[in-house]
Amino acid sequence: MGLSLSNVDVVYGGVIQVLRSTNLEVPDGQMVVLLGSNGAGKTTTLRAISGLLHADLGEVTAGRILFDGEDITNGDPATIFRKGIVQVLEGRKVLEHLTVEQNLMVGAHARSDHRAVKTDLERIFGYFPRLPALLRRTAGYLSGGEMQMLLIGRALMARPKLLILDEPSMGLAPILVEQLFEIIGRIKREEGLTVLLVEQNARAAIAQCDYGYVMDGGRIVLHGSREQLENNQDVQEFYLGFSGAEERTSFRDIKHYRRRKRWLG
Ligand SMILES: Nc1ncnc2c1ncn2[C@@H]1O[C@H](COP(=O)(O)OP(=O)(O)O)[C@@H](O)[C@H]1O
Ligand SMILES: [Mg+2]
Repeated sequence: MGLSLSNVDVVYGGVIQVLRSTNLEVPDGQMVVLLGSNGAGKTTTLRAISGLLHADLGEVTAGRILFDGEDITNGDPATIFRKGIVQVLEGRKVLEHLTVEQNLMVGAHARSDHRAVKTDLERIFGYFPRLPALLRRTAGYLSGGEMQMLLIGRALMARPKLLILDEPSMGLAPILVEQLFEIIGRIKREEGLTVLLVEQNARAAIAQCDYGYVMDGGRIVLHGSREQLENNQDVQEFYLGFSGAEERTSFRDIKHYRRRKRWLG
């Protein structure tokens, strides 16, 4: 079970094809990372999963997306959300005029078990011990790292089965990135949560994942387990900064290298 995309094409505005025959599996209880440079098609993949393509005049034109055996291809966002797929959008979109506490409660709005909400808050504070002190603060004034904690906390309040994160490390200091991914890894293990993480920050993301995919130009160009990715020569050279790349002399190779190097973020 879990999530699977098979041979998915996505077209925007009826003419711009962005995803080409994308195959991707996120098995239950695993953390899968989707890597790729700017414009590779990562966010488009996530929008296709959570039903958010329509707002951008996009559509899945071929292939199938299944979640727990159910076809959710081109489904509507509210229905997909109710099936337990919760996405934290890129760009830290907190409700900036509301307090931290109000933001967290928004995450629980779709739930009927209101008594459990308090217990869930306590659980989330266990992962993000800084949050309780921030409850009355206006969300718009938080630091980048605090906002990201709030957004993940808010997503957890919806009790997702599949948590989708779009570049949570964007703009955070390296030390915070590492801490954030460690916490995400801990949440995954302790809650048995399934996670699909989109990142340009390859090193920290690979370290926490069970399996990973690399996307380029709307296609999956490489995939493998954490160990396979860490031992893959392309990944080592292009993402993890191992030596060897300096020996490339042809312009094409260097250009290729530089282009790919950006995947590391
Ligand atoms: N609404 C849209 N209409 C047309 N093209 C789009 C739209 N959104 C994204 N694209 C294009 O699709 C490609 C992939 O974008 P995106 O999925 O955002 O990549 P990533 O998240 O990997 O940076 C880019 O070339 C981008 O310009
Ligand atoms: Mg993106």
